[in-house]
Amino acid sequence: MDSTTDIVVIGAGIVGCAVAYELARRGASVQVVDDRPAGMGATQASAGVLAPYIEARHHWPLAALAALSLEQYDTFVADVSSASGMDVTYRRTGTLDVALDADAMNGLEAAALDLARRGVVAELLDARAVRHEEPHLTGDVAGGLFISTHGFVAAGELTRALATAARRHGAQIVEHSRVKRISRVGDDLAIETARGSLTGNRVVLAAGSWSGQIDIEGVSARVPIRPVRGQLLQLAWKGPTLRRVIWGARCYLVPWDDGTLLVGATVEDTGFDERTTVAGVRCLIEAASELVPDVSAANFTSAKAGLRPASGDDLPVIGASSVLPGVMYATGHYRNGILLAPLTAHLVADAMLENVMDPMLELTRPQRFGEL
Ligand code: GLY
Repeated sequence: MDSTTDIVVIGAGIVGCAVAYELARRGASVQVVDDRPAGMGATQASAGVLAPYIEARHHWPLAALAALSLEQYDTFVADVSSASGMDVTYRRTGTLDVALDADAMNGLEAAALDLARRGVVAELLDARAVRHEEPHLTGDVAGGLFISTHGFVAAGELTRALATAARRHGAQIVEHSRVKRISRVGDDLAIETARGSLTGNRVVLAAGSWSGQIDIEGVSARVPIRPVRGQLLQLAWKGPTLRRVIWGARCYLVPWDDGTLLVGATVEDTGFDERTTVAGVRCLIEAASELVPDVSAANFTSAKAGLRPASGDDLPVIGASSVLPGVMYATGHYRNGILLAPLTAHLVADAMLENVMDPMLELTRPQRFGEL
């Protein structure tokens, strides 16, 4: 395996594939390298919820980045579907954040006020209105917060479509190759894998939870990304399902057109352990049944687990290495990799191909974690 390319992207998850597609679309010669097929890391266990004003509402810089990325989503999905010739399930049916008691309702009221101050439209609903919107919800519901701009996307379909679209623009995807080290050789960078070396002018490090395991010449402090396991259930539902994403204190539910219901997700510090567990499955089933009692009658189809790549401050790590020129980080997207994919792809492509450094990159600088 010996070849030279403009840009080598390490990692074929949603972020690596989105970056590769954008770079290739703009004319760069690109190789993507991973030890697994596209989308088999954190991406394969993602429910694809697109909800900046839930996931990140307590972390405003992150919510602002995520909201910008969400604005790009219609175009992103349309372009990728057309470039790949593949359908991608994508819905903007909103989210309903549900409170089961007065305390939780106070929290939603405070969130609604804060969002209104920031100009975000979010509608508080009382218990009757929530049950009218979603008749399957428990009778114990106290109220809810409806955010119409939110939605969900099929993360696996999107990642496979991005990989195909990148290929159609000339990118190559190199599988079964775990990257160990990046080093300088003359004017180029050598990307050493267990099966040989690739050579590129530049490298994007988008290896998710595994980003800190790659040795970069001259960098002593590895990028501090830790894996946070998320388990997810797939249930087959009989009869009319939910209308939109339901978000509760202990789980969220994503209804698919085919009657499938995804239930996510645990948040576990268990290192590089990608197993599903009895405790994880039980916890999600209990949480889902509390919100929607009919869940108990659904078929249990499968459970999955993925490792979210968490940085120390929950913001992603996007930006150039200050130690090894030509290396750019695009990692640490934690709970928002799917949501932040279009924005990340544009930031990286603008920086690498146009030398345009968006001011947003100040927030995501790798150097906030040391000499990287
Ligand atoms: N973005 C949802 C999760 O990480 O569980």
